[in-house]
Amino acid sequence: ADHLRRFETLFTLTPQRMRIIVSSFKETLETGLDKPDQTVPMIPTFVFGWPSGNEKGEFLAIDLGGTNLRVCLLNLQGNGKFEITQSKYRLSEEQKQDDGQKLFDFCVDCLKLFIEANSGEDGILQLVPGQKIPLGFTFSYPCKQDKIDHGILIRWTKGFGSPNTEGKNVAEMFREALSKHDLPVELTALINDTTGTLIASRYVNPTTKIACIFGTGCNAAYMEHVKDIPKIKHLGIDGDQDMAINCEWGAFDSFEHEHLPRTKYDIIIDESSNKPGEQAFEKLISGRYLGEIVRLIICELIDEGVLFLGQNTYKLEVPNAFDTALLSLMESDPTDELLMIIGLFSHFFALETTLAERQFLRAIARLVGRRAARLSACGIASIVEKMGYIEEGCSVGADGSLYNKYPGFAERIHEGLVDIFGERGRNIVTHHAEDGSGVGSAIIAAMTKERKAAGI
Ligand code: BG6
Ligand code: GLC
Repeated sequence: ADHLRRFETLFTLTPQRMRIIVSSFKETLETGLDKPDQTVPMIPTFVFGWPSGNEKGEFLAIDLGGTNLRVCLLNLQGNGKFEITQSKYRLSEEQKQDDGQKLFDFCVDCLKLFIEANSGEDGILQLVPGQKIPLGFTFSYPCKQDKIDHGILIRWTKGFGSPNTEGKNVAEMFREALSKHDLPVELTALINDTTGTLIASRYVNPTTKIACIFGTGCNAAYMEHVKDIPKIKHLGIDGDQDMAINCEWGAFDSFEHEHLPRTKYDIIIDESSNKPGEQAFEKLISGRYLGEIVRLIICELIDEGVLFLGQNTYKLEVPNAFDTALLSLMESDPTDELLMIIGLFSHFFALETTLAERQFLRAIARLVGRRAARLSACGIASIVEKMGYIEEGCSVGADGSLYNKYPGFAERIHEGLVDIFGERGRNIVTHHAEDGSGVGSAIIAAMTKERKAAGI
């Protein structure tokens, strides 16, 4: 019990503390809109305004940046409805570190396989000779854009490290890969997963104002008034329009580490990552790191002689041996005896557990999972406060493995919002955005085509 109390103190965020975080977060968002090249870059996406719902036609989408590489074919029917056909391809850890051009070549190889599999006599993809299908590329890393089909990779996140990519125009690298094949495809839009999720959520739910991803990474997008983005004044865009902003909020409190309460476990994770100092907010929240936080705590308690006395714990002592999916399973064990946790520890780590140990481990999982959700609530609250959405309320489209699979994650975000805003916090609700980035990038490709046709 004493041990648990120690971790409760470390991992619990009081409402008071959350409000302080929200206030500095909001200032950071404003600075990012005001000045170029800030740590939280508040990236103008060149996606102007909400979709009308009348967007129509056939589009391809590639989605790179979560757990899988996805290729989708979308048929937007012009009445707010759509059909989607998709294939998933696994990306290996080696590919994530391999030369950048090879990564885009691989995306195009998958696209080619997908087109071949779905066209032909009775395929769903009806190719018209000479006609190119518009493609939206969801590339979920921070890219600096000055138009919709262009983007300079600012930095890799989520453990990617492919050389010869940072500082380059990834849309151009993708076109280079396309040019090696004769495919009936043209890259129309380069977007972030949060932007795609924002537009796709709005397409089905008109109260959507914000979108978040809680998965391998953590980030948000929302719709901003162009007149309130001082750093792009020089572009002379009509100030009455709205433009989606990709916040890249995972970078909040990077380098300086002056706003977020980090524990020694968070610091170890940061320092042993391939990008120390960076993505400070994301490292406390996203699925890439939560399991490792718990593993480090367990290892410390093994060293102190508190857990697994007399057993060989080498399997647990391997970095990243504890997947975040295990935390989800531990939290969802419905039995009093915690039978699922018995199974997990014996299967993955060849360890026997006592009931007291299992209860303790589950309590640790709860603390780490709960902190992640409450920090997420702080991020959402900072946009809500900045935009003045609290009275009328709004809906937040959300996607990603953590949001979709971690038990209670959404409820804990909602609780966090009530702790920050009081009862009014209930005006802000999250909902799962079905196929956010695939559908979103198709709709954005369609919106882009319409603007071009209108000569904008
Ligand atoms: C998917 C979206 O559902 O969620 C992707 O289509 C997004 O665009 C992903 O990147 C994030 O979740 P994860 O867990 O795969 O990182
Ligand atoms: C990382 C990326 C960001 C993405 C997020 C969720 O934070 O930098 O672009 O939106 O992960 O996938």
